[in-house]
Amino acid sequence: MQLAQVLYTQGFGTRRVCAGLVAAGAVRIGGQVVDDPAHEVATDGLVVEVDGVAWPYHAQALVLLHKPAGFECSQKPRHHPSVMSLLPPPLRQRGVQPVGRLDEDTTGLLLFSDDGKLIHRLTSPKHHVPKVYQVTAKHPVTDAQLAQLLAGVVLEDDPQPVRALAAERTGELTLDLTLAEGKYHQVKRMLAAVGNRCEALHRSRFGALAIPADLPVGRWCWVDAATAATAFSGAAGAPAARG
Ligand code: URA
Repeated sequence: MQLAQVLYTQGFGTRRVCAGLVAAGAVRIGGQVVDDPAHEVATDGLVVEVDGVAWPYHAQALVLLHKPAGFECSQKPRHHPSVMSLLPPPLRQRGVQPVGRLDEDTTGLLLFSDDGKLIHRLTSPKHHVPKVYQVTAKHPVTDAQLAQLLAGVVLEDDPQPVRALAAERTGELTLDLTLAEGKYHQVKRMLAAVGNRCEALHRSRFGALAIPADLPVGRWCWVDAATAATAFSGAAGAPAARG
């Protein structure tokens, strides 16, 4: 692929802007400036450096954000900044979208991709990709509440009962809840339906993906294709998320 085309596919701007970046000497490969926009490169394993920042080539983007509280997932945020503002311009320009939503006050693992089919697969209830939520409750979590969450609860405005795949108490006021679907405010509504209240919520896993231990709140990392291929297939215990 021609170098200017590589930059274009990675979100560095219009074809003209990308050709301009290369011609201006802003792009290095293997430490060497390459200033011919038509220079042919193999994309497999390619890392381009643009204005001093290394950028590994990804045919399709899948990234993991350690979401802080105080950011909205909606396209038109109303009261808080958008989670998109935590991503660098090339990712935004290549059109990555959040994979499902987390509430403004929910923290934790949020994926983004520009692969429409993957987003559909990961958000469709048919595919049952399990998500783990760490819940802090207002009142002590009882055995009866755990049993109800596992058996299924009916949410307001929704006749179809929803149940947790797993519900495990981790402290007097805390539990881990594993859900297959992602209905609006589902965890909060499920806690309310069993007579408790969700005070804080953190998503710790999406499929077999977990937040890398060294990824600070508010920062993102790539999820490589090989990791993604196993992470959402129902296979457990493949926590690495780095690409
Ligand atoms: N369930 C909720 O209630 N909120 C979230 O952000 C995610 C799941």
